[in-house]
Amino acid sequence: MKKTIRDYDLSNKKVLIRCDFNVPMKDGVITDDYRIQSSLPTIQYALDHGAKVILLSHLGRIKEESDKAKNDLKPVAVRLSELLNQEVLFIPETRGKELEDAIAHMNEKDVILIQNTRYEDLDGKKESKNDPELGRYWASLGDLYINDAFGTCHREHASNVGIASHLPSGIGFLVEKEIENIEQVVANPERPFTVILGGAKVSDKIKVIENLVTKADHILIGGGMAYTFLKSLGYEIGTSLLDTESIEFCKEMLKQYPDKIVLPTDHYVSDSTEGVGTLKKVEETEPTDMGLDIGDQTISQFTDLIKQSHTVIWNGPVGLFENPSFQKGTIALCEAMKQVEGKTVVGGGDTASAVQSLGYQSYFTHISTGGGASLELLEGKQLPGITCISEK
Ligand code: 3PG
Repeated sequence: MKKTIRDYDLSNKKVLIRCDFNVPMKDGVITDDYRIQSSLPTIQYALDHGAKVILLSHLGRIKEESDKAKNDLKPVAVRLSELLNQEVLFIPETRGKELEDAIAHMNEKDVILIQNTRYEDLDGKKESKNDPELGRYWASLGDLYINDAFGTCHREHASNVGIASHLPSGIGFLVEKEIENIEQVVANPERPFTVILGGAKVSDKIKVIENLVTKADHILIGGGMAYTFLKSLGYEIGTSLLDTESIEFCKEMLKQYPDKIVLPTDHYVSDSTEGVGTLKKVEETEPTDMGLDIGDQTISQFTDLIKQSHTVIWNGPVGLFENPSFQKGTIALCEAMKQVEGKTVVGGGDTASAVQSLGYQSYFTHISTGGGASLELLEGKQLPGITCISEK
């Protein structure tokens, strides 16, 4: 068992908390603050227990000097300050005198946010390559390290693994919640256990399928990735997404688990992603058709299985939900989830955006804040950002 923030006396301690404030921004304005909101319980707990809170996060990717301005963390400090209802002192540097002086003058319950950790990537990718000197330097700024950046736990960077190797450490409430709702739910699901997989490419989800097919009772496949499965059965798929190198894998999975893997039997097709859909059986697909949403018969089959389940994990939208013409399937699945008596968990990334943009977020047990990180947990992998944390 990993230590958590509860295992430490925080009073008057300089607590370095790694958050994932990698939020979507447009022209310097945060367009979705879900990740910031999700970090509040840990930050607030540290403040309530008398800590001096020093926050670190990355934002975007920094490959050249011109990437810095659009990935400046200042707007996050402003938003966080509104949410915490207290000052958050933003230090526009990742190291140096201004930062060290500010920390030296901190009082209990003060909060500092350090500039984007990936600014260090400009000089030899020090953050992303876990440069030992950088991890040691950041660790020297605090007494204790808490990792609450679930979305970054699949990375082995200086601001997580690097710092943790020099300080006593623990996970925060968000990381704890993500582990409970993804890793522990997969390990010990209440049955029936249904997994819904969608999104564009089978190749991105091969390891997830291999891991979950042995554990779930049903795997419902929708979205672009359904077409590689249909192609492997010999169906015409028109201009729908095809992941040629995964055809053999799909064929093998369908051979081994014919009753577990459930594919669409009908779909809404169009000649372009901007078009309006026509409902067709999958065997009626023509060479000019592009499949863009699951059809009515498939919706009914999928939603029946969902409603009977006691655990549902969903990763990947089942249609092109950004176009209102192809939202029907995704909305129907959200509606069915409302009726599940048990846990409903949404992997991060596109599925989280779909659920949130359609207004269904409050009906789910858990919406992950991690895209790649939640996928790797579903693959059954150990995440370096969690492995590096002190054991109880
Ligand atoms: C994410 O958005 O998935 C995390 O913040 C990790 O970001 P990265 O893929 O740029 O490492």
